[in-house]
Amino acid sequence: MRIQKIFIGVLIIMFSCQDKNADLEDGKMDEYISNLMEKMTVQEKIGQLNLVTPGGGILTGSVVSTDVEKKIKEGAVGGIFGIYGPEKVGVAQKIAVEESRLGIPLLFGSDVIHGYKTTFPILLGLSCSWDMELIEKTARVAATEATADGIFWNFSPMVDIARDPRWGRIAEGAGEDPYMGSQIAKAMVKGYQGDDLTKANTMMATVKHFALYGASEAGRDYNTVDMSRLRMFNDYLPPYKAAIEAGAGCVMSSFNDVDGIPASGNKWLLTELLRKQWGFNGFVVSDYTSVNEMIAHGMGDLQAVSALAIKAGLDMDMVGEGFLTTLEKSLNLGKVSEDDINLACRRVLEAKYKLGLFEDPFRYIDESRPEEDILTAENRKVASAAAARACVLLKNENKVLPLKKSGTIALVGPLANSQNNMLGTWAPTGRHNLAVKIIDGFKNLVGDDVEILYTKGANIVDDTTYAKKLNVFGEKVNIDRRSPEEMIKEALSISAKADVIVAVVGEATEMTGESANRTNLLLPESQKKLIRALAKTGKPLVLVMMTGRPLALVEENELADAILQTWHPGVEAGNAIADVIFGNYNPSGKLTATFPRNVGQIPIYYSIRNTGRPQESDTFQKFKSNYLDVENSPLFPFGYGLSYTTFQYSDFKLSKKTIATNESISITVEIKNTADFDGEEVVQLYVRDLVSSITRPMKELKGFEKVLIPKGETKEITFEISEKDLRFYNGSLEWDSEAGNFEVFVGGNSNDCLKESFTLVK
Ligand code: NOJ
Repeated sequence: MRIQKIFIGVLIIMFSCQDKNADLEDGKMDEYISNLMEKMTVQEKIGQLNLVTPGGGILTGSVVSTDVEKKIKEGAVGGIFGIYGPEKVGVAQKIAVEESRLGIPLLFGSDVIHGYKTTFPILLGLSCSWDMELIEKTARVAATEATADGIFWNFSPMVDIARDPRWGRIAEGAGEDPYMGSQIAKAMVKGYQGDDLTKANTMMATVKHFALYGASEAGRDYNTVDMSRLRMFNDYLPPYKAAIEAGAGCVMSSFNDVDGIPASGNKWLLTELLRKQWGFNGFVVSDYTSVNEMIAHGMGDLQAVSALAIKAGLDMDMVGEGFLTTLEKSLNLGKVSEDDINLACRRVLEAKYKLGLFEDPFRYIDESRPEEDILTAENRKVASAAAARACVLLKNENKVLPLKKSGTIALVGPLANSQNNMLGTWAPTGRHNLAVKIIDGFKNLVGDDVEILYTKGANIVDDTTYAKKLNVFGEKVNIDRRSPEEMIKEALSISAKADVIVAVVGEATEMTGESANRTNLLLPESQKKLIRALAKTGKPLVLVMMTGRPLALVEENELADAILQTWHPGVEAGNAIADVIFGNYNPSGKLTATFPRNVGQIPIYYSIRNTGRPQESDTFQKFKSNYLDVENSPLFPFGYGLSYTTFQYSDFKLSKKTIATNESISITVEIKNTADFDGEEVVQLYVRDLVSSITRPMKELKGFEKVLIPKGETKEITFEISEKDLRFYNGSLEWDSEAGNFEVFVGGNSNDCLKESFTLVK
C-alpha cells in the first residue's frame, strides 16, 4: 500500500514536472514569437499567411503562383509546396533566411499520401490490412523519405469518411467507419510526427479535409454537403478529432460547405468546434484556392471572402493570395482587426518554432540523405508487405487460389503488364518507372517453374475520349492497335493452352482520386467482354482486381472462380500480388468500405440504423423498406475478406451480464483455424444499443484484433468494453451513454457474427 502511494506520488511529481516543462517551453516560444512579431510590419505578418506553389514541379491544382522568388525576398511568403530535393529546397530557404528583411524560414510542404517515393498501396487498400502497426510504419517511412528530400510538412492524413464509392477520393481515405478511421488517423499522425517534431526525420501532419468532404452530394467532388449534427458528430467528425488528439500540428479546411457556410469561412467549424471544443492549438491551412472559391459559393468578392476566412479562424491561404492582396485593405477599412492578423501569423510562426526552424532553418537540408534514406531495400520491403496485406480475397471457389508453382498460366488483362497504373492516385512523388509489373512479379517468384503466357486481352477502356481524360498526367491508358475482338481472340488462344487463367483487370490510376468521380461502378465494358469470353472457356478463372474504389462486381462474382481485390498496390505491386497468388502470403485483408451490388444502393454502409419497417431477409416484401429490383444487402459487407484457411468462432462469453458506469466487461471468444494454412484473422467486435433517446446503428465497430493462428490451432481473444465505449452524441450533442440493453457481436465480418447481450445500469 505504502509503495503504491509512493509510486503515485512519484507519478504526480513526474507529470507536474512535465507540465511545468511544457509550460516553460510554451513560455519560451511565446516570448520568441512576440519579440519577432514586434519587428514585423503588417504586410510581413500577412506574408506569413501566404502559401505558394511555384509550378515547374509537380502540380496538384489548376493555377500556380507567380514571382515566387521576389515574394520570398519581400517577406510575402510563409510556405512553399511542390518543390523537392535538398538542393532546391535549400536554395529557396536560403533566399528566405538571407535575403528577406527578417530572415524568417519557410515551411516546405507536400502531399505525401501513401508513401513518398517508396509508394505504398492507396490508403483505402492499406486500411484493409487492419494493421495499425504496419500503417504507422508506412507513415514513418514516408516521413523519413520526405524529410530526406527537404519536405517537413505533410498534407496528410486524409481522414474523410466516405460511404459513396462514386466519389473518386474514396481511394485516399480509410473507408466508411468512424472507429476504424480514428485508429488509422492516430497511427498516421504518430508515424509522421514521431515523438519530436524537431528531429530531422519527422514531419508535421495535416489532418484533412476539415470537414465532411467525403459526404459530397451524388459523390461529385467539391459538391455541396448537408447533414444533421448528429450524423456529423457520431459518424463523420471522430477521425479528425482523433488526429487532433494525437497531436496533428495542422488542419486543412475542405472545399465543401458545412451547414451552408463553406468550410474555409466557417467560424463555427474552425473556431468554435476545432479550437474551443477540441482544444486544437496548431494552424489551419486552406485547401488549394478554397478561399477564392468562396466567391463562387456566393460569399462575396475576394476581399470579402478573405476577411471571412481569417475571421473564421483560417490561418494560411493556399495559392489563392486573397490574404496577400486584400487583408491590409480590409484592415484599413475595419473589416478585419490587427488581432485577427496577429493571431493567424502567430500560429504559423509557432509551427515553424515547433519544427525547430528558428534554431536551424536548414535542419532538413542534407544532400547525403536522399541517397541513404529514399527507396531503400528496407523501405521497399515494407511496401511489399503492405501491398500483400492490403489484398482482400473476395471469392475462392474450389480453392483455386493459391496457384501451384507449376504448369501453365494464361496471364491476361490490361493491367497485367502495366507499370503506370500500379501506384494509384495521389502519388505525385512516386516513380512509375520503378513499379513492379504483375507479369514481372509473377516471373520473379516462379522463374521457369511455371510457363506464363501473356496477352493484353482488352483495353482499360475502348473510348478514346474517356482515355484522354485518364491520361492528363501521362499515359495510363493505351488503346491498342488491335481491335477488341482480335485482342479477345488472342486471350482465348493462350487460355486454351493454360491450366488456369489470371485476368488482371480494373481501373486506371486516374479513374479515382481528385476530380475522378464515376456514376457507373461497373468494370468498363471492354474488360467485361474479355471476362465473359474467358469464363466460357470453362478453365479456372482468377480475377486480380485493381481499383481505387469498391466496384459493383455482381457479374464478375458469378463468372470468376476467384477474385482478389488488390486496390492500387504501389511500387512493389507485382512482387506482393505474386506472393498472395502463389501462397507465399495468405491473404488477411478485410474490407473497410462496403461493396454494393449496384450504384443505386449508394450510400451503402454497414452501420445503418433500423427503419420503422425493417426488412428481415433479402426477399422483397411489400410495405417494407426494400427495393423492387435489388436486394438490400451489399455484395460484400464491411469487414469481409476470405483467407486460404477457414476460421471457426465458438465459446463466446461475457464476464458478466450487467455493468455500471465505472465497470467493464471482458468478452472472450475462441477462434480455431480449421484448414490447411497458417493464417491471420481480423476478429471484429460490434455493439448495438437497443433502446436509446435517438435512433442508433444496428452495429457499430468497437474493437478489433488481428491474430495469427497456425493451422489446427485455437486462440482465445479477449476484448474489454466499458461504459465509455458505449457513449455517443445524443440529441443535445452531449457525449454520454444511456442505461439499457445492448447486443454485442464478435465475428470475422460485420454480417457474420456471434451474438450476446448485456445491460448497462446507471
Ligand atoms: C487539393 C487537395 O484537395 C488537397 O488534398 C491537397 O493537399 C492540395 N490540393 C495540395 O496539393
